[in-house]
Amino acid sequence: MYTQFDGLIRSSLKGRLRGYVPYSKFAVGAAVQCKSGAVFAGSNIENISYGLTICAERVAIGSAVAAGEREFVAIAVVADTIEPIAPCGACRQFLAEFSPDLVIVSATVAGDRKIENLSNLLPDPKRGILKNVHIR
Ligand code: THU
Repeated sequence: MYTQFDGLIRSSLKGRLRGYVPYSKFAVGAAVQCKSGAVFAGSNIENISYGLTICAERVAIGSAVAAGEREFVAIAVVADTIEPIAPCGACRQFLAEFSPDLVIVSATVAGDRKIENLSNLLPDPKRGILKNVHIR
């Protein structure tokens, strides 16, 4: 059965193949669907310092923003797990910068999927930060 997000999941599976994961060996792929229709894929990029690792979601968004995109409809995230994974806290904040109501399509390599909204994973992402408080 063909569903709305099949193409986006396919792009994230492709992205996953480029994962640079010498430390965790856990490759993750992501693909973001822009309002314009364009799709940008990403994979996680690890680092020997561990903490500098960038998740697949942020790589996909960075690639899209570098190409001039700022409006996003959905992002697919895929890993070879039993249950679909969800973006980490840092990625949730990063995604909410542009699209607080982004659709998150989490999928496994085997084909299971879960669709949820970023606003449920990270409600009120901008409260108490910079422009949303009164600075003395
Ligand atoms: N990772 C992602 O790329 N996206 C996620 O949503 C979860 C975690 C990466 C970071 C690290 O390279 C590896 O998965 C293990 O956490």
